[in-house]
Order: sequence, then structure tokens, then C-alpha cells
Amino acid sequence: MVSTFSSTTQGHSSCSNERLHIEYVNASSHLTATNDAEAVIEGLTRSRSRKTLPPQFFYDDKGSQLFEKICTLPEYYPTRTEAWILQTYASEIVQKMGECELVELGSGSSTKTRLLLDACARQNYPLRYLPIDVSGGILQESAKQLLQDYPTLKVYGLVGTYEQALAKLPPVSLPHRAICFLGSTLGNFYPEECDRLLDRMAATLNKGDFVLLGLDLDKSPTILEPAYNDSQGVTAAFNRNMLSHLNWRFGGNFDPDLFDYEGRYNPEKSQMEMYLTARQSHQVRLEKLDLTVEFSPGEAILTEISRKFNVDRMENYLRDRGLSLIQTWHDPQKWFGLLLSQVL
Ligand SMILES: C[S@@+](CC[C@H](N)C(=O)[O-])C[C@H]1O[C@@H](n2cnc3c(N)ncnc32)[C@H](O)[C@@H]1O
Repeated sequence: MVSTFSSTTQGHSSCSNERLHIEYVNASSHLTATNDAEAVIEGLTRSRSRKTLPPQFFYDDKGSQLFEKICTLPEYYPTRTEAWILQTYASEIVQKMGECELVELGSGSSTKTRLLLDACARQNYPLRYLPIDVSGGILQESAKQLLQDYPTLKVYGLVGTYEQALAKLPPVSLPHRAICFLGSTLGNFYPEECDRLLDRMAATLNKGDFVLLGLDLDKSPTILEPAYNDSQGVTAAFNRNMLSHLNWRFGGNFDPDLFDYEGRYNPEKSQMEMYLTARQSHQVRLEKLDLTVEFSPGEAILTEISRKFNVDRMENYLRDRGLSLIQTWHDPQKWFGLLLSQVL
């Protein structure tokens, strides 16, 4: 067995052997560090519009753990609803795709992906999985666990942003490739970012390949708002952890306890919006960015949007991006949809 190692920002190492290859496509990249720094400076120095931060800063090791906890909360219906759809229809989905490599964007713990792998195994398809995630710790842990549980599985993991990793995918080794984007993570993108990412996905794939999207569908704020304002305060801790993440990445002195958290539904845009709001006037210094940020009482940082989708509109939207919708699977309440489309 040949293994190679390299260190990363949070002390994880990349490794390679016959069944597992993990590559840090963001490791010590000057370009990544510059892009991240620019995004923070741009978001926190907006003068006329609201301060904002890119949601990828939620995810360091602690953020990934907190997200896993969110997925188990009684109010947070998306994970269990999507899991129900996969439990019920995964065999149908993989039969439509045939022998296929599964590429997953934002793979996290890969828990729901197991339902697709199980369905591929039932069809006796070769198992090849390419998880992509900006959070290296959770990707490594879940990859190791998957290899133990699926003796014929081969994993090729890429740690980095979606764009970085899609540019570094290895040559395809099965008849088709499917890019899976579960958890309605697509909803965290603004429309123009969403266009760019879907164009990038379609450009990466070959004709006849697949895109499987898990999308949270628009519904009453009476269901949506509690899902993002849980009674145990885990979503609030997840949001405040973004400030701790900025502290260790950029030598900052944010005091997360000086911010209140709230998730609000915006009916005009059919999206949930997550805010951290300063309780009092104060100043924050991010040493490595040479940046000082002033907060007035009640001033908010928009940490994330979560757009809620409509399947009919998505069908037209996907076609405009060169993807033909093959089938949509729902839960009985039609709260969530799994949309399988194919590159034209
Ligand atoms: C909302 S979670 C979804 C996790 C899992 N797919 C699920 O459905 O439960 C988003 C995942 O995407 C990863 N992520 C967030 N922004 C990313 C980016 N720009 N590039 C790559 N991964 C990202 C996070 O680390 C996290 O694991």
C-alpha cells in the first residue's frame, strides 16, 4: 500500500492507497487564501447594503459537527424528509442512472449517500464515490467509515470548494457520472451564483451524465421559520461558530456572544435568511486582514440564504442550463423534491 501525506489548515492529512485517495485541492493555495480574504473584506465593509459573509465559513470541524446536530433536530425537517425519499426511491433512482460514479458536492458526513450506495450495491454496480467538501475533517472521517462498511467501494475525495474540486476531477472510470447535490445546498446560492455552478457542473459532465438535486420546496413560514430557529439553540451556535472560524483563520477578536441569531422568511424572495445581529456598539479587529469593523447596535450580518424551490420552474431552469429533467421524487407532503436530470 502506497500512502502520501500533506498537512492542511486544521491539521488533517491527505492520503492515498488502492481504495482511498484524498486530495486537498485547496491546501496552502495562495489563490484560495486571497479569495477568502477578499470575500470577508468585501462582505464586512459594505457601506450602503447589509454586511454579509459567505456560508462556506460555517464549515470548520466544529461547524461540521454542529451541522450534523442540526440534521437531527425535531424542527429541522429537510434531512429526515430527504432521507425518507431516498429510502423509498433510491433503487428506482439508481436504475435510471445505470452504472455510475457518484460525485457528491458538499458531501459532509455522506449519511444519505449511503442509501444511494446501498441501492447501487443491490444492482451489483461497481461502487465508486467522489465526495467533495471544503471541510476536510468530516470528509476524511466519513470516507474511512464508508470503506469499512462497503468492502468493494473506491473513494476519491477532494477537499476544497466546489469550483476548485470540479476542476480537478479525475478521468471517469464507469459508463456515466452523476453529480449529487443533496440537502438543498443549492439553495444557499444567489441566483447568479447558482447559474454559474450549474453551468460548471454541466460543463464538467459528458452528454448522458446525470445531476441529482435534493431541493427544499417553498412552503408556509410556520414550518420554515421553526426549522431555522430551533428550541435548543443549535442553529444559533452554528451561526456564531462562523465568527470563531473567522477568528482562527484571520487572527480576529469577534466575541460571538455579542451577537443574537435569528432566521427569517422573506416571502418576496421565497427564501429563509439567517442573521447575526450586534447587541451593542463595538469594534472587531481581523489582524491578518488588517481590517477593523465597526458594529452599531442592531446591525446585522447576513450569514446565509436558503432559497425554497418550485419544481415546475426548476424544470425550465434546468433545460436552459442544458439539463433535461427526467423525474422528480417527493415525500407525501411535497415538502422536499429529489430531481434527476440528464445532460443533453
Ligand atoms: C448544508 S451542508 C449539507 C451536507 C450534506 N450534503 C447533507 O445533505 O446533509 C453543506 C456541506 O457543503 C460543504 N460546503 C459548504 N460550502 C462549500 C463550498 N463552497 N465548497 C465545498 N463544500 C462546501 C459543507 O462543509 C457541508 O458539508
